[in-house]
Amino acid sequence: MSTLRLGIVGLGKIARDQHLGAIEATDGIELVAVASRNAALEGVHCFHDIEDMLASGVELDAISLCTPPQGRFAQAKAAIEAGKHVMLEKPPGATLSEVYALERMAREKGVSLYATWHSRAAAAVEPVRNMLAKRTIRSVSVEWKEDVRHWHPGQAWIWEPGGLGVFDPGINALSIVTRIMPESFHLTASDLSFPANRAAPIAASLTFETAGGVPVAAEFDWRQTGPQTWDIRIETDEGSIVMTHGGSRLIVDDVAQIVEDDREYRRLYERFVEIIPARVVDADLSPLVHVADAFMLGRRNTVEAFED
Ligand SMILES: NC(=O)c1ccc[n+]([C@@H]2O[C@H](COP(=O)([O-])OP(=O)(O)OC[C@H]3O[C@@H](n4cnc5c(N)ncnc54)[C@H](OP(=O)(O)O)[C@@H]3O)[C@@H](O)[C@H]2O)c1
Repeated sequence: MSTLRLGIVGLGKIARDQHLGAIEATDGIELVAVASRNAALEGVHCFHDIEDMLASGVELDAISLCTPPQGRFAQAKAAIEAGKHVMLEKPPGATLSEVYALERMAREKGVSLYATWHSRAAAAVEPVRNMLAKRTIRSVSVEWKEDVRHWHPGQAWIWEPGGLGVFDPGINALSIVTRIMPESFHLTASDLSFPANRAAPIAASLTFETAGGVPVAAEFDWRQTGPQTWDIRIETDEGSIVMTHGGSRLIVDDVAQIVEDDREYRRLYERFVEIIPARVVDADLSPLVHVADAFMLGRRNTVEAFED
């Protein structure tokens, strides 16, 4: 198969921190163009936006959207209509219905649509999924606490409707839990803390249970300074399983089993290259369903105003 020619849209933090290096390290795909209103990259074709990129005549097989979720639907639609395979950053959209529409469009057009969940590509995720398939789970508890000023400096979109606030990182935890659990779970309570001056929550306290009655709790907080916490603890009849560092480390019964440097985005691009020949549509929306439920069932508490 010939090398896939890729265009990136939105040359912001995640494109620079992760996508560029991962594309470079992946066989079968090369970056040939970038569309970003305020940024450019040496050595590739640069455009203001996706419309200019698609109209330019530069030959592209696939587009990777690294823009904020709000506005991504129109970009993905344009790419699919132009016959390009599309990779979506998480969350795949600002609403569920727009992603269902993209899924339909991609199938009709015969292109791949890959709604990525980078945290699912963390090293401990598949091993824990396999362990849990054979164990009896007693409880699951998630602690995802980080400093928003450090990780999202000046990102205005993240506080706007559709930006998800603390669910922007929190959905990463949900993407792991939905992958590792052997049975489905659903929300039973949601407490959301909204800064007085913002349209999105800065903290969330969620209670779920599985269909079989196992409790699943999640605490998301963007006000944590000092050490950062991205942990999932699972108590089972056969002992404890703890995933730390966003799922890149695994501790079973207090013994470290996996410690891996971050390879998440390499795995995402390897998968994108792999699914394109068969025109696969890979779009599991279950993490976004839980976030939508959290807003739908959420009790809104107003907390101190947040300034960047
Ligand atoms: N930051 C992280 O650590 C991280 C990690 C994993 C996933 N993600 C996901 O990746 C996506 C992008 O996040 P990011 O952190 O890279 O955001 P970002 O730093 O704000 O970059 C997004 C880029 O998209 C372009 N853009 C196009 N339309 C925009 C609009 N209406 N408002 C703002 N920017 C717009 C901007 O470039 P131009 O102005 O040049 O067009 C901007 O630089 C999000 O869905 C996020 O959840 C982020």
